[in-house]
Amino acid sequence: MVADFTLAPAVSSDAAGLISLRAGVVAEGEFLVAEPGEFVVSIEAMIVRIRAGDAAPGSSRCLFVARARHQVIGVVEVQPGAFRRNRHVGHVEVLVRRDWRGRGVGRALMERMIEWAGTSAVRKLALAVYAHNLPAIALYRSLGFVEEGRRVGEYAFPDGSVRDDLLMARAVGR
Ligand SMILES: CC(C)(COP(=O)(O)OP(=O)(O)OC[C@H]1O[C@@H](n2cnc3c(N)ncnc32)[C@H](O)[C@@H]1OP(=O)(O)O)[C@@H](O)C(=O)NCCC(=O)NCCS
Repeated sequence: MVADFTLAPAVSSDAAGLISLRAGVVAEGEFLVAEPGEFVVSIEAMIVRIRAGDAAPGSSRCLFVARARHQVIGVVEVQPGAFRRNRHVGHVEVLVRRDWRGRGVGRALMERMIEWAGTSAVRKLALAVYAHNLPAIALYRSLGFVEEGRRVGEYAFPDGSVRDDLLMARAVGR
């Protein structure tokens, strides 16, 4: 069955939906570094981020959303490095709402982002993922991302356990 969703660059009216999506993933406690209470973004700040991520050709930022029934159900964002020497590196983050996972949304968002990257100033796509996040790692590997390194014990969880971070990347084909 083909899931019924659309992809588009985010617009200002997506701001509340984007905040809600991220807050939901943060609340799951499994996939992002921020814990509930550590994620605070205003609508105004999100609108600034949306406008910066307009995905224009030659730019270094994009913010694509997946929508279903007028709700934001997924997002992929690329932000460049902060300096001249690393601004060719686009840092990727992808999130899909829990009830929409496993239906092709994450792959569609990543493929749209990679297509955009080919028109952008980004030369390398990079990301960090918890080493235990096997669905995300499988998706990234299938799209040509390779492991560049592992930060052992990078994160300490409230239950006393520590988890590793995997650094993955791929070149942007031109
Ligand atoms: C990772 C994530 C974005 C994938 O999105 P999704 O919409 O569920 O993924 P898709 O349905 O498009 O599946 C894409 C691939 O992911 C992998 N995958 C998805 N669900 C999986 C699962 N339960 N177990 C193993 N692999 C899985 C498969 O390789 C799948 O390949 P396929 O297209 O051949 O089936 C989504 O699970 C998510 O938002 N997770 C929480 C947030 C997160 O971890 N983000 C990444 C932070 S680095």
